[in-house]
Amino acid sequence: MSSLAIENIGLLLTNDPEIGEGTLGSVENASITFEDGLVAAIGQAGTTQADRHVDAAGRCVMPGFVDSHTHLVFAGDRSREFAARMAGEPYSAGGIRVTTDSTRAASRDNLTELTDRRRREAIRAGITHTEIKSGYGLDVPTEVRCLEVAAEFTDDVTFLGAHVVPSEFEGRADEYVDLVCGEMLTACAPLARWIDVFCEVGAFDADQSRRVLEAGRDAGLGLRVHGNQLGPGPGVRLAVEMGAASVDHCTYLESADLDALASSRTVATFLPATDFSTRQPYPDARRAIDAGVEVAIATNTNPGSSNTTAMGFCLALAVRDMGMTVDEAVRGATLGGAMALGRSDMGRLAPGARADAILLNAASHADFVYRPGVPLVDATFIGGRQQ
Ligand code: NIG
Repeated sequence: MSSLAIENIGLLLTNDPEIGEGTLGSVENASITFEDGLVAAIGQAGTTQADRHVDAAGRCVMPGFVDSHTHLVFAGDRSREFAARMAGEPYSAGGIRVTTDSTRAASRDNLTELTDRRRREAIRAGITHTEIKSGYGLDVPTEVRCLEVAAEFTDDVTFLGAHVVPSEFEGRADEYVDLVCGEMLTACAPLARWIDVFCEVGAFDADQSRRVLEAGRDAGLGLRVHGNQLGPGPGVRLAVEMGAASVDHCTYLESADLDALASSRTVATFLPATDFSTRQPYPDARRAIDAGVEVAIATNTNPGSSNTTAMGFCLALAVRDMGMTVDEAVRGATLGGAMALGRSDMGRLAPGARADAILLNAASHADFVYRPGVPLVDATFIGGRQQ
């Protein structure tokens, strides 16, 4: 049995309104004890019984970020494409093929090393749990390789064979969907927990996306959808119809999308760093929340549309440009991310939950927005261990 106590916490966010004040369940002058990887107790400030002690010196402790949408496994660089975009070129889904070429050429060891570097960077940014998608292989052996690498870093592995139609299938999208739903799914399903599809003009239409989701569901996978990123479209409503855990991007939400989401259990996951990096408008998160939609915030780390692991930056954008309050944004990147992954074991700091927490170099979580871009995470604890 091993235990660790963080003491002298000025502000502890638990995300449990039964433990503390407001939706974030805030407790002032608190201590928290971790035992065998789980939260064991929350108490008032003061010395606590534990093997190891950390003095928070009056600073803020909160649940670690749960990043429910990333593409961490890839090789290559698209900084020129980014620079061209900043100079006025539009973003297009076709850039995915550029990364596919580099990823196919990379060995498994190389992909593992690249992913490890990104994961360590994310941990320093306070991300205690991450989902990881494939989707830059787009052939059977490379999709398998990417999923095997992803599984070294997380148990939330997502098969995204239907990311875009690879160049060798140009003009034959339905045949590629046959491959994704057939041989590729057979090889990939045992390695994944989720299946995802990019339902968008330039990627897969509603019928093709439905086929992918149905095949994944029949293979025992949970469902996720990339939808309504580049314009209004069928992605959000398809995700709700199919009972997906999450529909991600949601940059363009129409009233019918909001109605569908509000009467469903599907989480709308916003990816503000993507809208920043692709010069898209920001989604109206305020309208979605006011309509009763459950929302999450994720980084969407990838080489094309969002090359960042900085969840704090995402929070600043969500508050500054999407109409969310600081508390809503922080909840979206912690508990919201956990809900988008269908997980009740993380995203909150309550007895029995995973001891995944961050100690900030700040008295309050508001500093993620008040001091944008400043690295505020002093220590990250995963399963009760300081990283
Ligand atoms: O989530 N939208 C689709 N997939 C990624 C983009 C990937 C890329 O451009 O490489 C995304 O934004």
